[in-house]
Amino acid sequence: GDNHRLVVVSNRVGPLSDEGKAGGLAVGLADALRRRGGLWFGWSGQITPEGTGSEIRVEEHGHTALKTIDLSEQEIEGFYFGYANRSLWPLLHYRLDIAAFDRESERVYRAVNRRFAERLTPLLEADDLVWVHDYHFFFLGQELRKAGYDGRLGFFLHIPFCPPDMLTALPASQDLVRAMLDFDVIGFQTDNDRRNFVAFCTQEFGAEDIDGDRLRTADGRIVRASAFPIGIDAEGFAEFAVSDEAREHERMVGSISHGRHQIVGVDRMDYSKGIVERFRGYELLLEDNADLRGQTQFLQVAPLSRGEVEAYADLRVELEGLAGNINGRFATLDWNPIQIMVNGFTRRALAGIYRAAQICMVTPLRDGMNLVAKEFVAAQDRADPGVLILSRFAGARAELPEALIVNPYSPDDLARALRQALEMPLEERQRRHEAMRARVFANTAHNWCETFLAVLDAPAERDLQPR
Ligand code: G6P
Repeated sequence: GDNHRLVVVSNRVGPLSDEGKAGGLAVGLADALRRRGGLWFGWSGQITPEGTGSEIRVEEHGHTALKTIDLSEQEIEGFYFGYANRSLWPLLHYRLDIAAFDRESERVYRAVNRRFAERLTPLLEADDLVWVHDYHFFFLGQELRKAGYDGRLGFFLHIPFCPPDMLTALPASQDLVRAMLDFDVIGFQTDNDRRNFVAFCTQEFGAEDIDGDRLRTADGRIVRASAFPIGIDAEGFAEFAVSDEAREHERMVGSISHGRHQIVGVDRMDYSKGIVERFRGYELLLEDNADLRGQTQFLQVAPLSRGEVEAYADLRVELEGLAGNINGRFATLDWNPIQIMVNGFTRRALAGIYRAAQICMVTPLRDGMNLVAKEFVAAQDRADPGVLILSRFAGARAELPEALIVNPYSPDDLARALRQALEMPLEERQRRHEAMRARVFANTAHNWCETFLAVLDAPAERDLQPR
């Protein structure tokens, strides 16, 4: 329980405040650490010649300490841009077609995992709960064990886990999954991800699936592998949505849309988010429904991400071109149908933008959870809620089946859903919204964290282990 210190490890650390422009991982963890205190260890965000050999940077925030180390040019290239984001990210998002593998990146990735373990070990105490996050650190548990750490060790994967037939294309897939088995508890966003992992372990190493939540490895160890769907601080986000900053953004969006139907999308600029297909769906809506021209306004917020990776740079060019084509084709003197912005907003400003929207399109081709979907729901005015259009391939789909569920690969399906959303009567919007709202407010970031840590803390499975 709460007497054990929580030690969180992730590549990105912080911010702990609510003002960051953070991805899903930081949002969930900041809440946990604010409430419970502990140590958060990871990358400083700095690139220096010392790299992982740098001095540890320390920031104390009440009962939480942020401790970070740097990466060198060579480390960031091989570990972060190379293996994490050119190999693992596309592969785990089912994009074998753009995943690239090279042995130098793999070598640096493993070396950085080992370096993080070596730097973290002296900071650990025997009864800590160590909780490692995401695809940057698949080997960290194994390296911590090698470095002599014998305490409780958990892992949570924030992104999807692809089927074994895809994962085996990764040259080191067996090593990578075997390394995961050194964690006591392995968490996934959805049951689909958990099943893919268990299938890999049973097919590739003859592990035994004991009861759906536990695996017995070939050497007799028992590892817990379960789904723990992540949530948001729903009340906090709902409060953001009525803050002054949110109101101001809500007004600004209202003043550019002139009473037109406002549609929004908010995603890191990433090919997994399905933004190209989304734009095509919107274009098709305008093409097929002359009556809607001049009646809708689409705002896509897409903060730049990982721009040194070619697929991301290419996507920016493609999206700006598509938006330009749609505007060129349909614009009138007083109407631009689509606007794309590559700068980010504060979380309060985003909450205001969500509240100003009648429709939010969350249409990833594949996504671990997608917290934009949950934040859009939390930000709505219950008396007059907007409509969520949600991909069948987002983890959030399991908890939000009352959204308009779409196939994000099909522009026709997207156009059809947009039309349905534009015509949806108030009562239906309210009914769908209330059902989703109840779940977003029940399955919060806080519950996610407490549920995971309760399992990690339960001594039962570990005591069965021959170590
Ligand atoms: C996703 C990943 C996180 C990552 C975030 C932002 O949410 O699961 O681990 O931090 O994207 O990406 P970045 O590469 O900028 O850290």
